[in-house]
Formats: sequence, structure tokens, C-alpha cells
Amino acid sequence: EKGGYDSFMEKEIHDQPQAVADTLLGRTDAEGRLVLDEMNIDESVLKSIDKIVVIACGTASYAGQVARYAIEHWCRIPTEVELAHEFRYRDPVVNEKTLVVAVSQSGETMDTIMAVRHAREQGAKVIAICNTNGSTIPRESDAALYTHAGPEIAVASTKAFLAQITACYLLGLYLAQLRGNKFADEVRAILDELHQIPAKLSQILEQTKGQVQDLALRYSEAGSVLFLGRHVGFPVALEGALKLKELAYIHAEGFAAGELKHGPIALIEEGQLVFIIVPSKRGRDSLHAKVISNIQEVRARGANTLVIAEEGDEAVREYASEVIYVPQSPTLLAPLLTTVPLQIFAMALATSKGLDVDQPRNLAKSVTVE
Ligand code: F6R
Repeated sequence: EKGGYDSFMEKEIHDQPQAVADTLLGRTDAEGRLVLDEMNIDESVLKSIDKIVVIACGTASYAGQVARYAIEHWCRIPTEVELAHEFRYRDPVVNEKTLVVAVSQSGETMDTIMAVRHAREQGAKVIAICNTNGSTIPRESDAALYTHAGPEIAVASTKAFLAQITACYLLGLYLAQLRGNKFADEVRAILDELHQIPAKLSQILEQTKGQVQDLALRYSEAGSVLFLGRHVGFPVALEGALKLKELAYIHAEGFAAGELKHGPIALIEEGQLVFIIVPSKRGRDSLHAKVISNIQEVRARGANTLVIAEEGDEAVREYASEVIYVPQSPTLLAPLLTTVPLQIFAMALATSKGLDVDQPRNLAKSVTVE
């Protein structure tokens, strides 16, 4: 049932091209327009919303954080992402014009269920993005958009995360399409790019896995690992750090690269391992240059720099201890690719320490208590 892999986690990492493809499947019509049949909230209501709040926990919240960059850019609707347990107890401002998006693999996370109930009591419409048919969160929501990642058995989330980003993007594109025709061609172009992601994921799994596994062995004694990212790379950094904590029990911390000089750079000393997720140069040149100088800054203080960059980016080599290349993609889609080496790194490092990657200590697959 592990499909020939050593663990469910490894299998699920390899399921990712399929998980993304299946989440995209059947959601466009012959003209290439997005159709989300399950979106049974009145179009007039969806057109009138003036705020989106994504609520989720853990990895699912990072999927929301990634999606926020895309949704605000495409839809021009103010979008917040909040941890469900914080949202619930904060007396948040939500009303009939708020669209709440509850993201949950299991659909049974109690913190998220309570937040959904609270949002609906305030009159908000709630859409669930969920991987488990008929679970509590979609049942209690106004509509559900399912991720079709297939069952996720390993406690640490991998394929569900990529499927959650994909589904959030479909929702963002759908709202953009609904709210303005001008955007139709752009929606189509982004959908085309999304459809190319599965092949690029397969390429990473074939060509990069071995390199990342070797790195994990080389650095298996690391006592702490930092992750830096900017723009959509920031939540990817948070996710990379979470995977390493959960699986390898190593202290790991993700930072927005722009924060480095506001504090975290004080942590850098000789031999500190730092992952840096570099944005595409073709996206925003200035951001690329800023992250390159971050690599330089930590390298100058003795850090070992593991850099994730897109193919063809030669500028990153100068200050990198090692570069992990992923295929080129539009900036907003890059997290679907750059996350994968971080998943593999955490899994391989935990495995090298003899740990059970499917069942990390102290954790449960779904957290059904508040
Ligand atoms: C991390 C992980 C958790 C879950 C979180 C939410 O690898 O799996 O952080 O993402 O507990 O779970 P769901 O998505 O089931 O609500």
C-alpha cells in the first residue's frame, strides 16, 4: 500500500504531480473558462464580498498564506489569513460581505470547525477547501471545494498542501473571472501554467531528489536550520521549517528574508545552515536582487547556504554552498515547486536519524480537540 516506497510520506511526496493534476481536473469548460459546480453560493453574493478571510491551522494555514498573494493580485479583494484558533477568540470583524475560506485536509480539525461556526454566526459565507469528502468542515460550510489529493496517511502533510494551494488558486481565479471579463484571457493563461505544474513536479522528483537526499545526509548533525523566503517564498520557508521540526525534531525557523536585518541575522554564526528560497528573476527583478544580497549577508557570517532557485538563475551560485534548481514557473506558482525539496530534505534527514517519518512523536493526523 506504500506503492513500493519506504514510507507513506515518501509515497505521498511522489503522489504530488497526480494530486495537483486531479485537483485541476474537470474544472474548466470547452472554452477554457473555469467552472466550479460545487460553488453553490449565489453569484450575486460572491460579487458583493469585500473581504476574504482564510482560516486554517499549521500547514493548511501556510497554503492560505501563499494563496493570499495570488488572490489579492487577481481579485483585488483584501485578504487575510488567520490561524483558526486565534480568529475564533479575537472577536474578528466579519459580516455578510466577508467570504471565509476554511482550509483543512482532514475536515475534522476542531479549531477550524469552531472558527467556521463563529464566522457563520456573524453572517459570513464559508467555503471549505478540504481533502476529505463528507467531513465536518465541508458539511458545516456553505460550499466546499475539494482537493483531490487522495487519502493522506503520513501525519506530516505534503500532497494535501500542494492541492490546497491549487484549490485556493482555482477559487481566486474563479472570483476574478466572476468579477470582471477583462481578466478572462489572463485566467486562461494562468490555468495553462497550472496545468504544466504536474510535469514540473515529476521532473523535480526524478532529477533533484537524490541531490537533496545527499544534502540531508551531509547536514544530518545540524542542531538548527533557518529558512528565508520573500513574497510567496515566505510561507514556503515557514512550511520547510515546520516539516523539519515535525519530522527530524530539529529546531527550525522560517523568516521573511526582509526581516533578516531586523533581528534574525544575530543568529548567524559559523556553520549555521540556512535555506534560502530565491524568487524568479523574471518576476520582480528587485526582489531577486534583494534575496541574493541576503544570501551574501549570511554567507559572509559563515552560514552554509542551501539555495533553492529556478533553472537558469546563475547569479545565485556565487554565494551558495549548494543550489537546488527547480523548473521555471510564474512567480505565483513557484511555491508548488520550491516546497518539494524542503519536504524531501526533512524526510531524508529524519530517516537518516532512524526516525519514523509517518508517525512523528507527539503528533496526531487530525487534531480533533481544541
Ligand atoms: C503539518 C500538518 C499540520 C496540519 C494541521 C491542520 O505537517 O499536517 O500542521 O496541517 O494540523 O490539519 P487539517 O488540514 O487536517 O485541518
